[in-house]
Amino acid sequence: MNPSLKEVVLPMISAEEIDARLCELAREIEAGFTGETLTLVCTLKGAVVFFVDLAKKLSMPLKMDFLEAASYGDAQNSSGIIKISKDLTNTITGEHVVLIEDIIDTGATLSQLRAHLLRQKPASFKICALLDKPSRRIVDDVTPDYVGFTIEDKFVLGYGLDYMQRYRNLPYIGTMQFVEASSS
Ligand code: IMP
Ligand code: MG
Repeated sequence: MNPSLKEVVLPMISAEEIDARLCELAREIEAGFTGETLTLVCTLKGAVVFFVDLAKKLSMPLKMDFLEAASYGDAQNSSGIIKISKDLTNTITGEHVVLIEDIIDTGATLSQLRAHLLRQKPASFKICALLDKPSRRIVDDVTPDYVGFTIEDKFVLGYGLDYMQRYRNLPYIGTMQFVEASSS
């Protein structure tokens, strides 16, 4: 990055708005299940904050598992090819699975993750994404069952999402602006 530029985060979705939407999402998910145990699968690292906050709002019995998909590409664009760098610990065969994603951009990551998980033949499989950027989609068969917020084509960070591995701990979602370091 140009050293004369400094990073400024512009708030976009507040912690309060996220919390309220997560309550609604939890009720939506509960309405689709009747007494079954769910397996919530978290995609590391971006979905981890969303995953934990949403899990605490769900009232049914839950199992949790984690996987990490490394995508080759630069800081803001994935190449579209993923590698599973950390797979699930437990089998999901016959389980009711909800995959928790941070954001769906081109859809390439999710399409490959879904194919990977469906090979284990879960009893049911749903996708829950905190953010969706439908205008960026290049894979047309990826439709999330639950979406927190539909957003326009902007690079976002915070609440688990990173910019060069930083900003994941922000309690809200923002966009990045680069301003001249000399300006205050
Ligand atoms: P896709 O394969 O193009 O759908 O990209 C999905 C992945 O790219 C997400 O899981 C994020 O890790 C990352 N990503 C896409 N858009 C953003 C963004 O605006 N901010 C941070 N990460 C993003
Ligand atoms: Mg990600």
